[in-house]
Amino acid sequence: MPHILVAPSILAADFSNLEADIHRVEEAGADWLHLDIMDGHFVDNISFGPALVAAVRKQTKLPLDVHLMIERPDHFLPRFLEAGANSITVHVESESRHEVPKTLAAIRAAGCGVGLTLNPATPFDAIAPFLDAIDLLLIMTVHPGFGGQAFRPEMMEKVRRAKEWRDAHGGKLNIEVDGGINAETARLSIENGANILVAGTSIFRAPDYAKAIRDLRGE
Ligand code: DX5
Ligand code: ZN
Repeated sequence: MPHILVAPSILAADFSNLEADIHRVEEAGADWLHLDIMDGHFVDNISFGPALVAAVRKQTKLPLDVHLMIERPDHFLPRFLEAGANSITVHVESESRHEVPKTLAAIRAAGCGVGLTLNPATPFDAIAPFLDAIDLLLIMTVHPGFGGQAFRPEMMEKVRRAKEWRDAHGGKLNIEVDGGINAETARLSIENGANILVAGTSIFRAPDYAKAIRDLRGE
């Protein structure tokens, strides 16, 4: 059983006091920080870009898990690498307008962790050809674009298929879930094979961040 990692999504953090919130969640036991990049085109929302990633980089030594919900991630990749991303995840859907194998290879060539993700409506077979080329498969458990949405339990079928692939191929692939993750949906996701839990609302809206993170781990 791989170690369970918790990656708070700073989309739910207090932007007016981001430095304090980053230090607070780090002291509370976060393993990674999840940064949601939204361009208002690939998703119907705008969040933040490389400049904020660089600012977060200065505040923490935690690995930065950058989730690119943008068109042309290949074009913007160098800026996120420059900003200090440790892992970069791109979408497989054609609406993101890039050549997936080329972009994955460019992330790899930069010595950065390579992630691929699919929306709820996208079948597992769309990412299957790329499983050998990635370190992390992010299975969206909500349609991307906003925090605070309801978890979609039917996505567990994809988590199970990813786990089967991982078990049959050396067990290294990280399986991450993102969207509506709380203590209950985290338990379900772990039972089906996930080992990285992204959570925004259930951590940053909790009075006690450390307890929220322990609850996600099921401790
Ligand atoms: C949604 C983002 C998620 C989101 C998670 O598109 O990819 O990372 O911020 O937020 P919660 O945990 O509130 O669903
Ligand atoms: Zn995300």
